[in-house]
Amino acid sequence: MARNEYEIKEQICDIGRRMYNRKMVAANDGNISVKLSDNEFLCTPTGVSKGFMTPEYICKVDAKGNLLEANEGFRPSSEMKMHMRVYEKRPDVGAVVHAHPVFATSFAIAGIPLSQPIMAEAVLSLGSVPVAPYGTPSTMEIPDAVEPYLEHYNAVLLEHHGALTWSGDLLAAYMKMESVEFYAELLYRARQLGSPREISPENVRKLYEVRKKMGW
Ligand code: 13P
Repeated sequence: MARNEYEIKEQICDIGRRMYNRKMVAANDGNISVKLSDNEFLCTPTGVSKGFMTPEYICKVDAKGNLLEANEGFRPSSEMKMHMRVYEKRPDVGAVVHAHPVFATSFAIAGIPLSQPIMAEAVLSLGSVPVAPYGTPSTMEIPDAVEPYLEHYNAVLLEHHGALTWSGDLLAAYMKMESVEFYAELLYRARQLGSPREISPENVRKLYEVRKKMGW
């Protein structure tokens, strides 16, 4: 469904509320961006709770991350360099979501990728989720660390930091974040029960065929 700019701002606020209510972000953590055109991107402002935003909070930047529009008192997210690298390398991407969900971030702290094929839907929706090496937030270190993963993945864990997802539109990018966190929680709990049994290589291959056929 095509949305106008104001509706997209409302959707960003709605997704921010969901992230906050689902404990994917604490305090002022996380950020969201949406591509409007090749040179216009909406993004959440820096230093606000993503659980309490209204459309006037949302800022607009160009493809280089330069400010185009912001209401008084709001500046674009400090992590826009990371978001812009995703759009630069993946012209098909329409939205990027960054959060610090508890289980996914725990794996990011431990440096363990979400790569064990333990649940069919996780393989279908995400494939495998690697860990990008640590970078200092707000610097070029993070975009440089995630770049190698952008072409072949839908999501990446940021070492000692959180998770980053991207997709064609905002709802899809947010759903990737939910899937990452669900997969991380399943993997964590299955490990508590012993060694998680993995789906056989033959069945993983079939899941990847379905992924390909469905264009996921
Ligand atoms: P911003 O408020 O600047 O978007 O930063 C939040 C965050 O989570 C940094 O990683």
